[in-house]
Amino acid sequence: MKIIDNIKDLKAEISCFKGSIGLVPTMGALHDGHKSLIDRAVKENDNVVVSVFVNPIQFGAGEDLDKYPRQLQKDASLCENAGVKIVFAPKVSEMYSDRKDNLTLICPPYDAVNKLCGKSRPGHFDGVCSVVAKLFNLTKATRAYFGQKDAQQLFIIKKMVKDLDFDIEIVPCPIVRESDGLALSSRNKYLTEKERKIALNISKALFSTKNLFDSGVKDIRTLTDNCLEIMKELDVEYIEFADRNSFELLQNEADNNTIILVAARTPETNTRLIDNINL
Ligand code: PAF
Repeated sequence: MKIIDNIKDLKAEISCFKGSIGLVPTMGALHDGHKSLIDRAVKENDNVVVSVFVNPIQFGAGEDLDKYPRQLQKDASLCENAGVKIVFAPKVSEMYSDRKDNLTLICPPYDAVNKLCGKSRPGHFDGVCSVVAKLFNLTKATRAYFGQKDAQQLFIIKKMVKDLDFDIEIVPCPIVRESDGLALSSRNKYLTEKERKIALNISKALFSTKNLFDSGVKDIRTLTDNCLEIMKELDVEYIEFADRNSFELLQNEADNNTIILVAARTPETNTRLIDNINL
């Protein structure tokens, strides 16, 4: 396996690949959620590239760009053991020759971004789409693998690929959870022991609300109140119900095509966590 930090060498290596190329874009601090994407990519492709890049242009002012966990050697050995051919870990200056406001960006439509995570993180999905588009171009990937935990991100990337005719297959991969239900996230590293217990209420709320729905309750107000009650120790940013295909937000009744999406912050370290469940 090679660790490559520049575009010239990446292109040279990619040009020697034979067969399909699987790309797993990441910001590093790899956990079992990422590993599930990587394992699937290795199974389905002749060559796999994992990018490890904490993308500054998707972070807003006051967000956790500086403290975002960075552990390249550890990430690289996970990739090597999994059968990855290239870890692409460029410096910021290699990816961006200019400030964000002087770069050509991909800006997804207002309707897709002005809700859920995009509402509290203006410009976030411009940064995500722009870096992902660069990675698609650089790696010439046949398939790219994304986790369903970042459901809005996945929706927006699929839309970008369709709208801009990228010649790539997007492969959505299921959320990976700890045995007690907490969705894996690189940001779980920030949690204190006490907050870890409080954070567990996010997945508990989602599972409980799904059970309530399965028992016949369809009213979104009632289902939301159930989530809020279980998540009362968290600072809830949003609990939304959406159609999982169109991502239109729903107000009245949930049905079998509904996804519940939540974002909440923990009380001590103010860590922002997201999760979702399909009904
Ligand atoms: O999901 C992430 O880790 C990031 O948003 C991504 C897709 C790697 C782009 O920086």
